[in-house]
Amino acid sequence: MSNGDLSRDMLAALAWQIELGADEAIAEEPQDRFAEHAARQAGREASREAQAQNRERPAAAPVRQLPPARAAAPVPPEPEAERSDGPGSREIAAAAASLDALCEAIEGFEGSDLRKGARNCVFCDGNPAARVMVIGEAPGAEEDRLGKPFVGRSGQLLDRMLAAIGLSRAEPDPEKAVYITNILPWRPAGNRTPSDAEAALFLPFVERHIELADPDIVLCMGGVSTKHLLATTLGIKRMRGRWRRHAATAKPVMPSFHPAYLLRQPGDKRLAWRDLLAVRAVLDGAAPDFAE
Ligand code: URA
Repeated sequence: MSNGDLSRDMLAALAWQIELGADEAIAEEPQDRFAEHAARQAGREASREAQAQNRERPAAAPVRQLPPARAAAPVPPEPEAERSDGPGSREIAAAAASLDALCEAIEGFEGSDLRKGARNCVFCDGNPAARVMVIGEAPGAEEDRLGKPFVGRSGQLLDRMLAAIGLSRAEPDPEKAVYITNILPWRPAGNRTPSDAEAALFLPFVERHIELADPDIVLCMGGVSTKHLLATTLGIKRMRGRWRRHAATAKPVMPSFHPAYLLRQPGDKRLAWRDLLAVRAVLDGAAPDFAE
């Protein structure tokens, strides 16, 4: 990374913190950075040792293999909007063996009328090798025009938020990169909120997307993606800030506020900042502290 890139990233991180009102270099509670560093170091050594032992035993399961819990995942309700003729979204998604194949499958999926009112399929942006995958709600007008998620005003805020924890969608290094998608790949006409049936119809594609991209962490932006990905009836204010496990892939999920909500309610940026710090801590080696 050049000095220019570094200064730009640092300025972006600073701008976001100023936006949050962070004008004092103190946290809410004292932190023993030396102890944190030692704990992280010990964690990394333990995981290296475990990996070395796994290598010595070739029959053992690979570290990032999807857990057998997948078979026990709750069966999602049959989506009302799905047409009964031909294969459904779950079968089509399961048959996609790569991200390119999944994108093609979504573009060709005829089980929803949403595509008729949209200009472009919005599949993803960023680096598919990233450790963090961001999942938003649905494309808006700008996203529909450009065929990329989060490129409008809320996308710009999202970029500043991610930059504040050292992540960028333009970054080639998976450690510093993000990969971004939405629950819906097509813009609902008039920017309305996706219906439950629409979200349920496209959920198998999103879950296959997570499996294929195989991130370490999913960052769920807003109530709609949280509701459907985590199959919860609790609102985002109750869900945010605590690690949850995604049933189908066992990935740790951090639900947080949608940037569009933060544009309307800037006072809640400080809560979003806490969620981002929790993501940063897990990326740095802390174990996710799952909600019961
Ligand atoms: N809001 C979203 O949830 N996703 C986008 O891609 C744009 C705005």
